[in-house]
Amino acid sequence: MATVEAIASEQPRAGKQDRTPPVTLTRENNTTEALFARYRQGEPLRPGPLAKILHCLPDDEAAQARDVIRLAQENFWADWAPWRCGLAGEGKPGFDDVMRFLPGTGPFARDFVNPQKGDLVVDLFGGTGTLATYFTAEQRRTMAGYITIDQNGQLKQTAEAIIGKAGVRNGHFLAQDLGRGLPSEIRNVIRKIDPDQVLFVSNFGMTYLPAQEFQQLAGDCFSPEFTLGRPTTLNIHMLRDGRFDPVSCKEHFMSEIVPRNILKSPAAVVRAIRAVKRMTQFGFDVQDVNPVWYPRETTRFLTEIGLSVIRRDETLVWGQSIAMEAVPA
Ligand SMILES: C[S@@+](CC[C@H](N)C(=O)[O-])C[C@H]1O[C@@H](n2cnc3c(N)ncnc32)[C@H](O)[C@@H]1O
Repeated sequence: MATVEAIASEQPRAGKQDRTPPVTLTRENNTTEALFARYRQGEPLRPGPLAKILHCLPDDEAAQARDVIRLAQENFWADWAPWRCGLAGEGKPGFDDVMRFLPGTGPFARDFVNPQKGDLVVDLFGGTGTLATYFTAEQRRTMAGYITIDQNGQLKQTAEAIIGKAGVRNGHFLAQDLGRGLPSEIRNVIRKIDPDQVLFVSNFGMTYLPAQEFQQLAGDCFSPEFTLGRPTTLNIHMLRDGRFDPVSCKEHFMSEIVPRNILKSPAAVVRAIRAVKRMTQFGFDVQDVNPVWYPRETTRFLTEIGLSVIRRDETLVWGQSIAMEAVPA
């Protein structure tokens, strides 16, 4: 199949180069139907758009395409994850230097996920577990534990240090390609921690999976095989348009965040400003190798496997993201 082979032969090391995708993805040209039509006409799709049609391809083409997508994503995250998952104020200015000022992650963690005493938080695609630092001191003190799961095993040491520093008990890092579902070790950790409830959380991660992998993982979160029958919920925070709108973000940042914080913490604001350029590049590159799903599509995937979205919040990150909670229908 020439289309998939063409893509395989020109795999870039994403993040290492200054390149934006040739076509800006929109709700119209990035539908699965539109992408599938382009693919059938012989257009060589980049791995991200290809991931959006993976579930529509015949088995042999899908197997080949899956390998291409996995490799591209692995390379992409190996390059970007350390920058993307670092803690604000440490190392070179990074993503979290901006996120700490943005309205989204804090309210998602504290108010939307809102772990209660005895709850275990399982952070899917959690990187170095920076989400743990966004809960209130009371939530961090009383939750039963916090597990971050990420395919990049090199993040383990940093993750465990960040979780420990956040004052959360029972912090764990599990290395797993979540495209293959939950890791079986999670059973042992849940048995040991013995939580009242398991809150699965994904802060900008799960929606980077192709459809079938997304559904497999969401299904695992409610399977007693992994949860030992504990009550669970799945809380997904994702971008409404697949990526931040860099122009709008920059405007909000300069007109709201900078004036409010420049005198209070000038060094932190300067770090954030320095991180924005790279963040914009990340925003473009991320859609090149990852599918860009929209809220209605993820809602459909969840519904198809018997889950129901019982809560939504579209006000986070200046209306650019959406949080949703899914439970069995
Ligand atoms: C956008 S970052 C989000 C990190 C964290 N949730 C946060 O908000 O800071 C995505 C993370 O997902 C991880 N990742 C990407 N694909 C993965 C996969 N198939 N399985 C597990 N982790 C993956 C990357 O290594 C990266 O750390």
